[in-house]
Amino acid sequence: MKNPVINTTLPGPKSAALIDVDTRHVSPSYTRSYPLVAEKASGLWVTDPDGNIFLDFTAGIAVCATGHCHPRVVQAIKDQADRLLHMSGTDFYYTAQIQLANKLAGLVPGNGNNKVYFGNSGAEAVEAAFKLARWFTRRELNIAFFGAFHGRTMGALSLTASKVIQKKHYNPLIPGITHIPYAYCYRCAYNMQYPKCDLECVRWVEDSLFRTTVPPEEVAAIFVEPIQGEGGYVVPPPEFHGRLHKIAQKYGILYVADEVQSGMGRTGKMFAMEHFGVAPDITAIAKGVASGLPLGAMVANSDIMVWEAGSHASTFGGNPVSCSAALATIGLLEDGLIKNAEVRGAELMAGLRDLQKSIECIGDVRGKGLMVAAELVKDRKSKAFAADWRNELIQKAFEKGLLLLGCGESAIRFSPALTVSKEEIDTCLSIVKECLQEVAC
Ligand SMILES: Cc1ncc(COP(=O)(O)O)c(C=O)c1O
Repeated sequence: MKNPVINTTLPGPKSAALIDVDTRHVSPSYTRSYPLVAEKASGLWVTDPDGNIFLDFTAGIAVCATGHCHPRVVQAIKDQADRLLHMSGTDFYYTAQIQLANKLAGLVPGNGNNKVYFGNSGAEAVEAAFKLARWFTRRELNIAFFGAFHGRTMGALSLTASKVIQKKHYNPLIPGITHIPYAYCYRCAYNMQYPKCDLECVRWVEDSLFRTTVPPEEVAAIFVEPIQGEGGYVVPPPEFHGRLHKIAQKYGILYVADEVQSGMGRTGKMFAMEHFGVAPDITAIAKGVASGLPLGAMVANSDIMVWEAGSHASTFGGNPVSCSAALATIGLLEDGLIKNAEVRGAELMAGLRDLQKSIECIGDVRGKGLMVAAELVKDRKSKAFAADWRNELIQKAFEKGLLLLGCGESAIRFSPALTVSKEEIDTCLSIVKECLQEVAC
């Protein structure tokens, strides 16, 4: 496929009928940016019930790492389904979970001396990290970042500081969490400029926070996304994590990397933390790990994951079918998809930077590998958010058959499958260019 095929007004009649039922019976808490009904999909191409074919640069929110329905993943799922669907890793042993734990333990940055806890989602992986950090340190306070998204269960939500709607009417949440500014250099919270700032955002933690309100010896963990995801695909400076990690080590604070969105090859390395040369104490994994099957994993050093039997578990966590999909996914990542993410990501960034030269409202282009964003602004001097233009652009792209999502206040997120081709990058760029020209900017 080279170009999307849109034959009906959108949504087409069959999609519209389904959306009508959805409106009556599915939770209204979901946020649908546009009326896409996915009927089937292969690689980066999604077909709706009306036969329209879309180019997917969302990968189901950075989940379908190997593309939709990769034959090797589908085969692994079918083979596993024929053998064993469920046995509960909480109570019994089974091959796929053990094999995956063995694999993941050696993949996360560090010395490989790790253990894995399995859940079903990103939030569950973070939740498990939250509990393990408390259990291990016996400390009650935690640090997280403004702009962070860690999930929607009560613990993960307490760490989240992305959009207020996610927290509204749910208080009180878990106490003892202090949110601090992330290294969002395009909009520095301290009005400074990198590298002259000497990472004020990190220095401030020790020089101000730990001197005034947060006793460091009471802090269990710092929860941080190596690259902020929902907050706008914000890439911190290269030494950000190294410097912050050092401070954490100094005070016996665990460094928890939320790699739910940035992990599994998306940034051109298996884990985004590898770009920063830091081995976290705990890593939370989900989304891309099983190419679309529900799976979350929390990986921690064996010296830290010492909680006793019964202290945490999940009936479905590490389901054999999900684990087999994950093993096939990791095989594909190692066979070339991580490299493809790096190469194609560089092409995508270069293309967006090229557009930025002539299109004033593209304030910032940033990312690593295939975790790429273009932030739209009303003008480059004020950097006023242009959420309305961004939203309009995403609608127009949908109408032209390109699936995109936003992130942050006014950024367009590009998170295609790691199988994306040069041709598909070019198609995406040409549709985005058309849309930008049609939007007010
Ligand atoms: C960094 C990060 N952590 C956690 C989550 C929560 O994952 P889930 O929606 O699978 O619970 C997300 C989801 O977007 C995420 O991006």
